[in-house]
Amino acid sequence: MSILKLIKPRVLAAIKAVSTAAAEIPTVADCGYTSGAGNPKQALLADIQVRGILSAAKRLKLDPTDFAKQIVEKLDLQGVGKATVDGPGFINIKLDDAWLGDRINKLFWGADPRLGAEEWTGRVVLDYSSPNLAKEMHVGHLRSTIIGDALARVLGFVGADVIRQNHVGDWGTQFGMLIAHVYDTDDVNLDQLQDLEALYVQAKIRFDVEEGFADRARDYVVKLQAGDADIVKKWEKIVEVSLMHAQKIYDTLGVLIKRSDAYGESSYNADLPNVVTDLDKAGILAVDQGAKVVYTPAFQKDFGKGKPVFVVQKTGDGFGYAATDLAAMRYRVRHLKGDRLLYVIDNRQSLHCRQLFDVSRRAGFLPENVEATHVGFGTMMGADKKPFKTRTGGTIKLAELIASAQERAYALAKEKNEKRSEADRFTDAQVRDIANKIGIGAIKYADLSKQRDRDYVFDLDAMVQFEGNTAPYLMYAYTRCRAVGRGATAATEASSSAPIATTTTTTPPKLVLTHNAEHVLATTLLQFPDEIANVIATSCPHHLCGYLYRVAGAYSQFYQACPILKSEGEVRASRLRLCEATAELLKTGLGLLGIGVLEVM
Ligand code: ARG
Repeated sequence: MSILKLIKPRVLAAIKAVSTAAAEIPTVADCGYTSGAGNPKQALLADIQVRGILSAAKRLKLDPTDFAKQIVEKLDLQGVGKATVDGPGFINIKLDDAWLGDRINKLFWGADPRLGAEEWTGRVVLDYSSPNLAKEMHVGHLRSTIIGDALARVLGFVGADVIRQNHVGDWGTQFGMLIAHVYDTDDVNLDQLQDLEALYVQAKIRFDVEEGFADRARDYVVKLQAGDADIVKKWEKIVEVSLMHAQKIYDTLGVLIKRSDAYGESSYNADLPNVVTDLDKAGILAVDQGAKVVYTPAFQKDFGKGKPVFVVQKTGDGFGYAATDLAAMRYRVRHLKGDRLLYVIDNRQSLHCRQLFDVSRRAGFLPENVEATHVGFGTMMGADKKPFKTRTGGTIKLAELIASAQERAYALAKEKNEKRSEADRFTDAQVRDIANKIGIGAIKYADLSKQRDRDYVFDLDAMVQFEGNTAPYLMYAYTRCRAVGRGATAATEASSSAPIATTTTTTPPKLVLTHNAEHVLATTLLQFPDEIANVIATSCPHHLCGYLYRVAGAYSQFYQACPILKSEGEVRASRLRLCEATAELLKTGLGLLGIGVLEVM
């Protein structure tokens, strides 16, 4: 459980004992961690600060210092910590070292695999990745894939039943285009299609320049949707090859998406006419210039002078993206029975999502008790601050991007390796393996550590560095923690190198925290439940990244200030435990971001 959640009711009880009127002010007992490792001076004074007192005192016309003093007198923190009044109306709480040590033991060597994070039961339908098929995955698909995957992991970790939906675009014009091109080109053997991208590029050129080709492509789409057997067969083949390509990327990236998570636009085809009928029954369907639409006046501002329409069926029978999403909405609510629906989609589709949710509510597709959220994200930019492209303006394939991150990481890892003593040096194959993992971790972490709704500059050189807020830095922090443990094992010739989760010690050694750096590290480690809760509440993984970076920082200060292997007795045992707990936390935290750790690097 979060320490804040444990302290807050006690603070509130004390406030109530002093003033019932104050206790009724909603924010009165608000407390937060002091910045800990980031601000050592503040951390020396307090671990937690109660922040709502001052404004409550003002409201009730009380003297804030007096008020705070009275509260502190009534505050029962027996065994947990000590409270003091700081300045006008702040209450500082310093946690007790013995209590902290005990909690670390309970969380890291107890039976709780969630390390204190609160359980979240319920079903989440998570729409992420969702590329348009028929061409290879490119950088534009990266953010949804990475952010969505981190959320899937965090939600799964706290006990949610996560249903992944890879809402692939498998039904649009791009297929008509490819099929038309395949019909015209004798030498395309769909059974042996290797280079999907080349086929796509050829077809796209014809689509853009060749007279009549675009019309034929559209005609094929109509035939496909009408179920023409031969065309359907070709379409299936192309979808299959596309999905295979995508799956390769997912596997390389180490994301959770499986082939069976693909539930594409085409899956909803048969239900689209029903959607239209039901919108009509709900009394919200209108006809606008021949198209079937739902007006969404709540979003008039986004349409300027135009009519605020959500186009469900275009003129001439074609159902669009909106209709498919309405059908998917019903499927996720009625069939998948989601309690919470998350859509990890580019910010550029924000209006689409708002309209989708609005129309779904009004049509009765999205009941009150189901929450739908657009988890939007900004654009990945190149060094020129423009959407990330190749030098010639083309889109960058994901496979190439991953390879270049791994190549950069390899250069750095190789350099590092050469500086090692001969006995400790890795083989080239090992360096490659390390670099491949760093490369993937670097790409993911660079993305996840940014506030997701902002655009960010993709900087390969920065993300593979071993210093700063990067994946290699955190991965290395883990490796260093583990190395300390191995050093101790070697020194004492103790046999247990088992991961702590499986270590069963009946009476764990007491943690004795003797130095402020240990105190700060322990308090930081125990903030894990709060950070997880924050990620779940906001769907923003960067909170977890920032937290892990703080943990690594606190560890680093501890490591510098406190001799470990050279210390003795229970202090030594205790410091080793802190190393192990830090390792466990970094491994768990990075794992939740989809980043694997290395025992040596
Ligand atoms: N395929 C879409 C695109 O690439 C994204 C789909 C997102 N999911 C959804 N339910 N609309 O733009």
